[in-house]
Amino acid sequence: MRKNVIAGNWKMNKLLGEAVQFVEDTKDKVASKEQVESVVCAPFPFLPSLVEKAKGTDLEVAAQNMHFEDKGAFTGEVSPAMLADIGVTYVVLGHSERREMFAETDETVNKKAHAAFQHNLTPIVCVGETLEQRESHQTMNIVENQVNAALEGLTEEQVKQTIIAYEPIWAIGTGKTATSEEANEVCTHIRNVVSNSVSQAAGEALRIQYGGSVKPTNVDELLAQSDIDGALVGGASLEADSFLQLVEAGK
Ligand code: G3P
Repeated sequence: MRKNVIAGNWKMNKLLGEAVQFVEDTKDKVASKEQVESVVCAPFPFLPSLVEKAKGTDLEVAAQNMHFEDKGAFTGEVSPAMLADIGVTYVVLGHSERREMFAETDETVNKKAHAAFQHNLTPIVCVGETLEQRESHQTMNIVENQVNAALEGLTEEQVKQTIIAYEPIWAIGTGKTATSEEANEVCTHIRNVVSNSVSQAAGEALRIQYGGSVKPTNVDELLAQSDIDGALVGGASLEADSFLQLVEAGK
């Protein structure tokens, strides 16, 4: 039985006071870690304050990106060692916005996944197709290639601990959600890909989130699907009440 992971990706939103208030308002209300994993993916400058505030609670704090090197001459970058050092436990890798606007590639995502495991960070690896790719029936191929590239060289144990977020790009921030069947079809494919390329056990253990206009009104139906184990949520994760409703649905 796989446990759901509900992660709120704030993207480049909120100021420090708002972020801290959000954690204050949610940290003692999220369901226990045994029932569902609750994660907020926050901008770098807020991470130390949020980790401190969430300490000892069931709320986990994630970074939205990182570099793959531990240290060195990489102006403007943040290393996995730095994230682990301040108590961050998850990291989002290869979000489509980073692939599209910040030159993230399958190769860098793979390096980052390896680096994450070296520092005990759980990677949430994002994959997904554009509208054009979906309309030309390339979804399964695109997603399969992204998944295989991201997981390349990881051990079976590491793959089991990886979280894949399937986020069709055309559904992000558009209000247009994939139907739960459409979403599940791709998530099932991802699980089969991992079962074939890594092992059956890895395919069964790996958690797969859906992301793209998830909100309290559609989350139940998505989570009821056989291969969807949580949600990566943008807009609807910005308000504490809405985030808490999503976490409740994940129990
Ligand atoms: O990472 C979450 C995401 O890209 C989906 O955003 O606003 O459509 O929930 P949103």
